[in-house]
Amino acid sequence: MNRRIFTQMISLAAGSTVVLQADAQERSDEENPPTDGPKSDEAGGPRHAALDAPREPVKVEDFKALAKAKLPTATFDYITTGSADEITLRQNVKAFRRIKILPPLLTGVSEADLSTIVLNQPVALPVLLAPVAAQRMYHPRGALAAARAAGAARTIFAVSSSAGHSVEQIAGASEGPKWFQLYVPKDRAVARRLVERVERAGYQAIVVTVDLGEWKDADRRNRFALPKEMLVRHLRDVGFDQVTEEMSYQDVLDFNERAWDLSLSWEFFDWLRSITTLPLLIKGVLRGEDARKAVSIGLEGVIVSNHGGRKLDGMPASITMLPGVVEAVDGRAEVYLDGGVRRGTDVLKALALGAKAVLIGRPYAWALAADGEDGVRKVIELLREELLNAMIATGCAKIREIRPSLVMNDTSRGQE
Ligand code: FNR
Repeated sequence: MNRRIFTQMISLAAGSTVVLQADAQERSDEENPPTDGPKSDEAGGPRHAALDAPREPVKVEDFKALAKAKLPTATFDYITTGSADEITLRQNVKAFRRIKILPPLLTGVSEADLSTIVLNQPVALPVLLAPVAAQRMYHPRGALAAARAAGAARTIFAVSSSAGHSVEQIAGASEGPKWFQLYVPKDRAVARRLVERVERAGYQAIVVTVDLGEWKDADRRNRFALPKEMLVRHLRDVGFDQVTEEMSYQDVLDFNERAWDLSLSWEFFDWLRSITTLPLLIKGVLRGEDARKAVSIGLEGVIVSNHGGRKLDGMPASITMLPGVVEAVDGRAEVYLDGGVRRGTDVLKALALGAKAVLIGRPYAWALAADGEDGVRKVIELLREELLNAMIATGCAKIREIRPSLVMNDTSRGQE
């Protein structure tokens, strides 16, 4: 792959800020349905029509329409679209719908406790916020707002290396529990200092994302880019002190291109383990054999994920790979899942198939764009209410009572 585009997708800096409006409307799937075409906002930026935006969101997908009405097209597309033909993106959502729930009758359950424990941390519900980059582009308070919402909901915020604020700022924004998702600086001294800062700031685990590099037609067509000021700030937040505002945009882009380690192998975890005592999770696992390897080197958590269908189109829906990973891990580490979770029933299905909790990406990115901290609180609340309803309907008073026999899993059939 073109190395420049690969690194750009880590730090979100395409080489130009030009937005090609004419092409930006190509839409292809249910994640991203056709619109009436772009509208101009006061600042002259293209925006999607607000016509179909619901006044009061009652489900996760309502936030997508609200975000579309608020954001410049290129930013909305950055959040929403998937790689290439978006087959994996669609499958992530659709595969959940193929799993059926078969509730037992007359269980006498009328209330349910959604609290659970993830990596020794009590949380109020098994829905966590996945690492999502560039949050200051969606809302001025960006990851600070997301951190406050997660803290208020008593759940975990997994903070992206590219979230848009420093690890200390995000830690200071809320008391809530946090994980840190690491993209790895090539300069191991910078990487080490970053990990030390993460520990000092009170993060509770490190997530290493191993399915690096997004490849999305919409972003290339839109020339989606972090403005220079944001890119400089991002690189300095990571610890690249040599990057300054005085540098030209091109020089910052060139620096960014050289800065990241894109050739990780399993040995990286030995190095990481040698410099931190925090629990380690690997994000991006789909194969049982990789999950077994992760467990054999002592990783505490495995996140089943295809990067929300943003990387390599044609990968299977993450929920379809969950049972195989759970079997391979065999209780020796905690297994999480992300990709396509849009309903409380999706959470129930993932837990029934062995996930300890799920992570959401686009749902809270849309909600952040739509209404900042309140939006993220609301999207978590919607999933909480839907999961509560699903648990009562299936007679589960506790999270640990969610079990495989509640679902009919035929996810291997009828792809696409
Ligand atoms: C992501 N994702 C991601 N993952 C990661 O490890 N580091 C990152 O910086 C980002 N950035 C990012 C930006 C945006 C806008 C999105 C939507 C996603 C992937 C994310 O953590 C997660 O795997 C998926 O979003 C899960 O799929 P859903 O919930 O979006 O369907």
